[in-house]
Amino acid sequence: MSRLSQLSRSVEGRVALVTGAASGMGRATAHLFADEGAHVAVTDLERSGVDAVVDEIEAAGGSAGGWTLDVADAERVGRVVSEIVDRFGGLDIVINNAGISRFAPIDSETYEDDWAISLEVLLTAQTRVIRAALPHLRRSDAARIVNIASTEGWGATKFASPYTAAKHGVIGLTKSLAVELGREGITVNCICPGPIRTGMTAEIPDEHKEIFAKRRTAIGRYGEPEEVAHGTLNFCLPASRYMTGAVLPVDGGLLIKNA
Ligand code: NAI
Repeated sequence: MSRLSQLSRSVEGRVALVTGAASGMGRATAHLFADEGAHVAVTDLERSGVDAVVDEIEAAGGSAGGWTLDVADAERVGRVVSEIVDRFGGLDIVINNAGISRFAPIDSETYEDDWAISLEVLLTAQTRVIRAALPHLRRSDAARIVNIASTEGWGATKFASPYTAAKHGVIGLTKSLAVELGREGITVNCICPGPIRTGMTAEIPDEHKEIFAKRRTAIGRYGEPEEVAHGTLNFCLPASRYMTGAVLPVDGGLLIKNA
């Protein structure tokens, strides 16, 4: 059958940079984009984690390169982005995914440090990666930025104020840059994952996960990293060119559930 629609739902041949790609949602996103034919720049803190994901992609017949990258290291961010562009010939997609979460009651002794590192890694670093990528995104005919926020970007959980403040900031940053870059055809969207089974939630015992998910989500279970990656991919399709400034919960219905 010939096609009646015009816009492409393929990211084949596109170059996608994923931060925090050695674990959890970043890894699932790297896998999915590689499965869809993109060249994936896998970046994370440790060489071993980065190499493992690159190996997984290459073993499956996909295309990937690996870089160690601490998103809090401004100078390294610029260098890695240049190397990615040298390796793959451009950059079309940026997925700001790297993250940490700290237990941080407002009166704790380590609060100032928890605040500083949370804002740095979760929010400031996203601006840094976008700034480094922007000259290259401007050369793409389907430039896409996806920032990973959280349901903590809408509501709040106690003892997590640095994380919550940073994630609220990610939503504001996304809206602001969507407005700023829209005329250039660069879309900027964000995803708010709910409770997802990743490294970040690994220490929560399974029975607590189940109780929480049954009580708080409509779907009634924790989400899997790949379920979030598909939301991210949808924002990155060439066909998604009129979607910008959107805040998409991928949370099993947590945000809409009253009872
Ligand atoms: P994860 O812990 O499995 O993966 C996070 C990755 O980020 C790790 O590989 C880690 O090494 C990397 N990372 C940490 N600091 C970094 C830095 N300075 N530079 C570069 N990489 C760094 O966790 P998960 O859950 O996959 O996290 C991905 C994103 O999703 C984060 O932004 C997190 O805040 C967000 N999120 C997670 C939720 C969950 O339930 N797991 C819910 C809502 C949002």
